[in-house]
Amino acid sequence: MLTKTLMATAAVFCFGATAASAQTIGFSQIGSESGWRAAETTVTQQEAERRGIDLRFSDAQQRQENQIAAIRSFIAQGVDGILVAPVVATGWDSVLEEAAEAEIPVVLLDRMVDSSPELYLTAVGSDLVHEGRVAGEWLVEAVAGEECRVVELQGTTGSSPAIDRKQGFEEGIASADNIEIVRSQTGDFTRTRGKEVMESFLQAENGGADICALYAHNDDMAVGAIQAIKEAGLKPGEDILVVSIDAVPDIFQALAAGEANATVELTPNMAGPAFDALEAYLADGTMPEKFIQTESKLYTQEDDPQAEYEARKDLGY
Ligand code: AHR
Repeated sequence: MLTKTLMATAAVFCFGATAASAQTIGFSQIGSESGWRAAETTVTQQEAERRGIDLRFSDAQQRQENQIAAIRSFIAQGVDGILVAPVVATGWDSVLEEAAEAEIPVVLLDRMVDSSPELYLTAVGSDLVHEGRVAGEWLVEAVAGEECRVVELQGTTGSSPAIDRKQGFEEGIASADNIEIVRSQTGDFTRTRGKEVMESFLQAENGGADICALYAHNDDMAVGAIQAIKEAGLKPGEDILVVSIDAVPDIFQALAAGEANATVELTPNMAGPAFDALEAYLADGTMPEKFIQTESKLYTQEDDPQAEYEARKDLGY
């Protein structure tokens, strides 16, 4: 089956055409909803410049229809390849088929789609379920059997990180019946919404007295929620434990201040492996793995957060 698929996929995309000249790559980015996304954009632009790639960048302002329009425009421009960070998981079949018909390889960055893998060259990303599981397992250990009512700030509805990080966390706490998710709502991966939704959680949960922990699908929502917890007169990191995902500089400041407890790192450098795969494919048809996985490392207050902050603060977050 695999060989036939690869053969089929190889037939879909044309290669070798532009090995000599600088490649033109279209990049459909979701927007800049979080520090992490801003860093991904910066790293991708720096990587393109370093490789002499002509990068055509499009900011979709969080809207799928803008991404689909951007991809169609890249196809019309006759680019050599396309990078896309798909805002949600569904609804990509037709535009991916159009890119395949135009024999333009597409690489997914940091989020997945439910389309057939034959319709894209490869996907570069973390194991999103694993990230959630690591966060859940950290909480199980941290509360050590104590009763713990958790509130959850979900990512963008319908996005693969929101779906998978929720599933992973539930798997991570499944062994601990002392831990229960009592409220769960989207904060759209933004600080503003993270703060607002946390304020509503605090109001609904006896001013926060009935909340033991916050699980946020990204650090930006957690940073917003930390502000809300403080404004409610509680100590984030103590009265309410805080665990999230991304490892952006500001969460390390919160870890250093004892206002957050743990974060699971997501590297913003998805473009490096993506360009490597595209360049090899365009040069001689080398087929990459269908999924190129990036590492997910857990950081806590014990991991010298101030030094981690210093190491990341100028990386475009
Ligand atoms: O797809 C990855 C997620 O997108 C990041 O965790 C989050 O910060 C961004 O919005």
